[in-house]
Amino acid sequence: RTNNIVMSAIQPNSASLCPILTKFQNDCATPTPYLRKVADAIVDEMQAGLAVEGEGELDMILTYVDALPSGNEEGLFYALDLGGTNFRVRSVQLGGKEERVIATESEQISIPKELMIGTSEELFGFIATKLASFVAKEKPGRFQLEQGRKREIGFTFSFPVKQTSIDSGTLMKWTKGFHVSGMEGKNVVACLNEAMEVHGLNMRVSALVNDGVGTLAGARYWDEDVMVGVILGTGTNACYVEQKHKIPKLQSKSSSGTTVINTEWGGYSKILPRTVFDQEMDEKSLNPGEHLYEKMISGMYLGEIVRRVLLQMCKTSDLFGQFAPAKLSKPFVLRTEHLCKMQEDNTDDLQNVGSVLYEFLEVETNLNARRRVVEVCDTVVKRGGRLAGAGIVAVLEKIEKDTKRMSSGKRTVVAMDGALYEKYPQYRSYMQDALVELLGHKFASDVVIKHTKDVSGIGAAVLAATNSIY
Ligand code: GLC
Repeated sequence: RTNNIVMSAIQPNSASLCPILTKFQNDCATPTPYLRKVADAIVDEMQAGLAVEGEGELDMILTYVDALPSGNEEGLFYALDLGGTNFRVRSVQLGGKEERVIATESEQISIPKELMIGTSEELFGFIATKLASFVAKEKPGRFQLEQGRKREIGFTFSFPVKQTSIDSGTLMKWTKGFHVSGMEGKNVVACLNEAMEVHGLNMRVSALVNDGVGTLAGARYWDEDVMVGVILGTGTNACYVEQKHKIPKLQSKSSSGTTVINTEWGGYSKILPRTVFDQEMDEKSLNPGEHLYEKMISGMYLGEIVRRVLLQMCKTSDLFGQFAPAKLSKPFVLRTEHLCKMQEDNTDDLQNVGSVLYEFLEVETNLNARRRVVEVCDTVVKRGGRLAGAGIVAVLEKIEKDTKRMSSGKRTVVAMDGALYEKYPQYRSYMQDALVELLGHKFASDVVIKHTKDVSGIGAAVLAATNSIY
């Protein structure tokens, strides 16, 4: 049916004919000096969060990961990853320095939507069932667990958790569309343990880690220059190696050495180019007023911002003809992968844009409308990618302040994971522009952004090994 779309004359500059679009583009602008201010403000918030618990916008959570993997870890360990629309179970046979990962098996299971907003018993019961069937199917590998020894799990739980030790912590709040009742303030490891017991599973959590920490640890297992783990996926976060003596809120006598900090940078909000569309989306979200930076840069929200802008354009400047398509009123109908598909369209008449709009909004479009849609996508994605770049620069600068490693020519690696980074080339390229603009050549040559896909599971399993009770 897309063939039936009526083509109209191409406008030389469609944006200039649409005041809403022009205003939106201006409001979303992120010139270099502005990005610099954002990066500096993020560094200030990082410092505030390290100084006093609860100060500053970033939680700067102590993760109790003081020792990162050395490569010597050995044995059979497990990883359980919960944090998005899927959860994943993995077994990992660690073979020490020579062999590293001998074998790994994993299974990904999508979480039914209703469980993301149900009760903790339902969610963890579901996870325990799937875990049990994974273990039941396991084939014997090199390592056999001795009689009576529990299988040890590194549990990647990708939400803000106030850690009380390496293997326990309470949920501070939900993010990314999760809202499981009765869990805030509860020990997440206890919730999982209870469910595993009910299902007769002889397993224990030896390490509770954030996905950013898992990514950092997993990447560090192979490369000792990894200092930062960044997630750009459904949500976003950065975790990094900090000097203990630079953490005033760490009230321990041993302030030498390093530890990993989970910044929860999604919570940053000062000086951000927020538009009325961002505000309205936030108000309607499950966590209004929270994680505002995340809502501008991560995969869950980019499509929704675009949808809101398009809807307004329909109402005030007949973007798609006289009426707004009914589907456009449905929250989250446009997803980040749709934006990506539209931005990658190289055809003269933007055929692929036409098909996406037809498929998801049930609207037939002319070239002019398609162009405008692409401009909206580009504006949102450019802002997101560039702001993410500013965040990475902030973390690098915090590290540089205390260690001077980059100015002394030491390679510094940022391990990166998440579907947004992986699958959206245009986002990636905007992010890289910001890095180059802000870091300049002096640092840019020493900083490496390394895409370390799915290493967080390995990282969690290795941390379970480091913290094994046996
Ligand atoms: C959200 C969570 C954070 C997680 C990030 C990426 O921001 O609060 O803990 O690391 O998403 O998954």
